[in-house]
Amino acid sequence: MKTLKEKFGSWAIVTGASSGIGEEFSKQLAQNGFNLVLLARREELLRKLAQSLKDKYNVEIKYACVDLTSKNFLIQIEEMTKDIDVRFLISNAGALRMGAFHRIPMADFERTINLNVMAQMKISHWFTSYLVKGDKKGGLLLLSSTEAYQGIPYSADYAATKAYILNLGEALNFEFRDKGIHVCVLAPGPVDTPSLTENPDADVVKYLPMKPQAVDLVVKEGLLAILKNKPSHITGRMNRISTFIMKTFMSRKKATALWGKSMYKMVYLK
Ligand SMILES: NC(=O)c1ccc[n+]([C@@H]2O[C@H](COP(=O)([O-])OP(=O)(O)OC[C@H]3O[C@@H](n4cnc5c(N)ncnc54)[C@H](OP(=O)(O)O)[C@@H]3O)[C@@H](O)[C@H]2O)c1
Repeated sequence: MKTLKEKFGSWAIVTGASSGIGEEFSKQLAQNGFNLVLLARREELLRKLAQSLKDKYNVEIKYACVDLTSKNFLIQIEEMTKDIDVRFLISNAGALRMGAFHRIPMADFERTINLNVMAQMKISHWFTSYLVKGDKKGGLLLLSSTEAYQGIPYSADYAATKAYILNLGEALNFEFRDKGIHVCVLAPGPVDTPSLTENPDADVVKYLPMKPQAVDLVVKEGLLAILKNKPSHITGRMNRISTFIMKTFMSRKKATALWGKSMYKMVYLK
């Protein structure tokens, strides 16, 4: 099997690089010799990460404070990448909002949908169009979640955004296969990152039946999955088994009810 660099060239973009899974993707890609374009809103975190990756791995790093929910974010990215040959995109940035549906303000739903759905769709469209136009091969990795596989009470909107990404990416995997463009959707279960462990909406960790997966393992699995051009990949053996059991042996109603009981505890008994 070819290496990531042989397959996807020398530059990669990582969205949501300032924290959690995106930060870890940036580290592992730099370790693999990729030059990086790091995007997120918190500039100071990006600056520190960029410096440490340059020092440690001797790679080139560009970074910018970009709000992916803003109207013109693609213009910013286009400007930053016009002189480099970017052929790998990790579309990772996302936000988790949990709680009773009727109690969450509409503005929060709009923000989540703008980030988790609209921004990922727009950047995927921009990136794949740019690759096809230039007759380039490349890779697009999209972050979904195991929440995508059924309705999740008290995380209803988030789970729905992740279902959109799962379906979008699996379809694009087929569309771009014969053009040498890999598209893979990564679906982690709970991962040990701030969005989960420091989430103000719920005490997820207290009621999980197992420990959240370590972020370095999630990213390793993701990089291997896109190299193999898998349409989607659930990270962690236990997550794969539980998703398989729910899909195969339970009705969708029952799977949703099972999630609902444990989400209720996370949200209301924290
Ligand atoms: N952690 C989990 O258990 C888990 C499980 C399954 C899937 N996921 C998915 O994995 C992805 C990463 O999650 P994570 O756990 O690593 O979360 P995280 O630690 O909270 O990181 C989220 C990243 O997204 C960036 N971001 C948020 N809003 C943004 C905006 N408007 N514009 C640009 N960047 C923005 C954040 O940077 P700034 O705040 O600096 O902008 C941060 O770098 C998400 O798509 C999430 O849904 C996570």
